[in-house]
Amino acid sequence: MAISILPVRRNLKFNLNPAKALTWHQDGLNVSQFLNTMSLFFPVGERFFIDSVRNYREQITDAELKKAVTAFIGQEAMHGREHEEYNDFVAQGGVPLHAQEALVAKLLKAAQQYSPKSFQLAATVALEHLTAILGGGLLDLPEIMDGADEGYKAIWNWHALEETEHKAVAFDVYRTVIGDDSNLGAYALRSGTLVLATGVFFALFIPFYLHNVRIKGGLTDLKGWRAVAKHTWGKKGIFRNITRPWFDWFKPGFHPWDHDNRDKLEQFEALLGDVLKQAA
Ligand SMILES: [Fe+2]
Ligand SMILES: [Fe+2]
Repeated sequence: MAISILPVRRNLKFNLNPAKALTWHQDGLNVSQFLNTMSLFFPVGERFFIDSVRNYREQITDAELKKAVTAFIGQEAMHGREHEEYNDFVAQGGVPLHAQEALVAKLLKAAQQYSPKSFQLAATVALEHLTAILGGGLLDLPEIMDGADEGYKAIWNWHALEETEHKAVAFDVYRTVIGDDSNLGAYALRSGTLVLATGVFFALFIPFYLHNVRIKGGLTDLKGWRAVAKHTWGKKGIFRNITRPWFDWFKPGFHPWDHDNRDKLEQFEALLGDVLKQAA
């Protein structure tokens, strides 16, 4: 496995329309709130990722990996900044996103205080697997974003592209400082942590999401729920399409670039053309 991609930190601004925050997806509130609820996890979650990797930065001697770590930190910081603005717009629409965010922040702080640094890095690597397959899924299934508001579509595509671009960075740090799969303890830790991280994520996400739909009157919107079902577990649904890649994690010797979707990175221009022009 010799694919080496050096991520690039891009300082992009997305001119999101605050008035569209709750209904930016063409299928309406229930689908929009699904992604909006995902968005609340990013600013605090990505800060946790940055801290977890930073804990081991000094132990990395490989020059390429060092550069990749710097770019990884830069990318996650930009994601956090842009999702913070995004989350503010959703909150202005009357959704208690900030209270939910505070709860996630508390949980992550407790993890930082009470768990070993190796566990924090393993959790980061596991959650990066989730963001990599979710991002990869979004790029594989562009129809999910068909007809969406351009700004919101651009921020999600950008995030999906950069999660793809840096998907192996935390993983390579983990292999270097904790161990690769020839070390049974390192393998067991990264495997167990994915199960735990996925469980904890959905245990938070599902009640938050249902609350955020209910509070805006979408709970009985059958058409809205049908659209959510289509985009999650339907034939072209994201969860159905990432189930196998999720399980691939447990193959001994797995590496994120075993899912070779480098070709998607060539779509940067095509997916973000207008945003890139504005930033230039
Ligand atoms: Fe990110
Ligand atoms: Fe990431």
